[in-house]
Amino acid sequence: MGIFHVKTEIYSGIGVREVLGKENLKKIIIITDSIMVKLGLVKIVETALNQLKVDYEIFDEVEVDPTLESVKKGLERVMKFVPDKMIALGGGSAIDSAKAIYYFMKKSGKEIPIIAIPTTSGTGSEVTSYAVITDKKKKLKIPIKDEDMIPEKAILDPVFTKTLPKVVVADGGIDALTHAIESYTCKSANFYTQTFALTAIVGIFKNVLRVYNNIGDEDGRIEMGKASCMAGIAFDRSGLGINHSVAHVIGGRFHKSHGRSNGVVLPYIIKFNSSDKETAKRYWEISKRLGLPSETKEQGAESLAVAVEVLNRYMGIPSCVKEMGIDEDTYKELIPVMAKSALEDICTQGNIKEVSQGDMEEIFQMIY
Ligand SMILES: [Fe+2]
Repeated sequence: MGIFHVKTEIYSGIGVREVLGKENLKKIIIITDSIMVKLGLVKIVETALNQLKVDYEIFDEVEVDPTLESVKKGLERVMKFVPDKMIALGGGSAIDSAKAIYYFMKKSGKEIPIIAIPTTSGTGSEVTSYAVITDKKKKLKIPIKDEDMIPEKAILDPVFTKTLPKVVVADGGIDALTHAIESYTCKSANFYTQTFALTAIVGIFKNVLRVYNNIGDEDGRIEMGKASCMAGIAFDRSGLGINHSVAHVIGGRFHKSHGRSNGVVLPYIIKFNSSDKETAKRYWEISKRLGLPSETKEQGAESLAVAVEVLNRYMGIPSCVKEMGIDEDTYKELIPVMAKSALEDICTQGNIKEVSQGDMEEIFQMIY
């Protein structure tokens, strides 16, 4: 079965000042974006660092879907300042940028650990060994995977998710749910990853609408922080499946949010994968745990797809690709190419049900 370990020390519901106070920090660089500065979230970390008399600098030029150029800029700042640690403050983009900086610094022989403070509940990047960087010139997404990039600490303080817009709650929540469901049902799932994944699924179903309806619900935000983090731990150890392969293509081609693309596709993929006995059994297990109608395996799998559809509808996530505002002719013409890229996506290997080019084309047809 192999080894299961969680490298990151996770603090949930604890203040940033308290956690940073436990360390003997001297020099810190905060890796973030300008919106975090505007929202006053960087100020919270600065106040803590000032109280602790830590010398710090701020790099706030992280981009959404971070580019190689922006990572290089951050890297130059880090090389000049030589901090003991980096604080990555933001969504997946900020944390991924810090990981990429870590990765390049390591190549030059200096390792600078990351303290991740996620400001969204979705990617799970605070506990994973992945980062995705975009090469704008070559129009390429460069995935980096390195166990050493996993943040040393993750601070899940609800003060940082207090101002999340509804659309980010929805997209992040459904991304985390997709991580957990795919992790639970993929090839390399094991007892440990499934335990984390199942708990995450229950936590997301219980809490995402609470937070969606009322961002002031602090307990709901704490629970969502934990659930998306647990989903991250699960999929980092087990891998994912074709839902992410398809969503990567849709998101990349048509510049749609990663979480939203996953959410749109999820009910269709559950139905597609249900024809595989083992996968259907696992969907059934999830449905049973959620208390959904699940007398037979088929009914259980069907119930899970319906539950996701209902959740999507409630949070304003489109029910098909067409509703995402993607032109039909352009889309249909691209189906063979998109199916090929999805088939080649690393996540496809994790899917239990074997998928051919023809199957993938059918999926792209179906989701439109
Ligand atoms: Fe994802």
